[in-house]
Amino acid sequence: MTKQTIAIACDHGALALKSHIAAYLQNKGYEILDLGVNGTESVDYPDYGYKLAHILKDGQATRGILMCGSGIGISIAANRFPEIRAALVHDVTCARLAREHNDANVIVFGGRMIGPDLCEECVNTFLNTDFEGGRHQRRVDKLSNPPR
Ligand code: RB5
Repeated sequence: MTKQTIAIACDHGALALKSHIAAYLQNKGYEILDLGVNGTESVDYPDYGYKLAHILKDGQATRGILMCGSGIGISIAANRFPEIRAALVHDVTCARLAREHNDANVIVFGGRMIGPDLCEECVNTFLNTDFEGGRHQRRVDKLSNPPR
């Protein structure tokens, strides 16, 4: 089986959590595409949300993980792309529902909001839960085509 490629990115508000989760997933056998940031300098979260969105859009990774201080800014950034369904989660139930109901392809965390153990659990759930389809498919399709 080929390794699943997971893209991961954050701003300075979540560097420690991003490094933890990247190493955790690497140890579990995933291919990790680390898009930064890799230092503690203050950066702009939209740049990292957009970077990851392009990687998914171009098919270079199947799933993404984004983090900023609260998780809010970087999820807003990623969700500006119709191909991206980024879910900001704080617990395992929402990580599961983000997959089952929303077919989320990106999970988002606040580095100042969640600890590493719970984050690991949420990531595992996100990576191992299938989309339920059915009635949810119609709703998810509508997300890609907002009325203008
Ligand atoms: C950076 O200080 C902070 O604003 C950012 O990480 C994030 O929380 C924005 O939504």
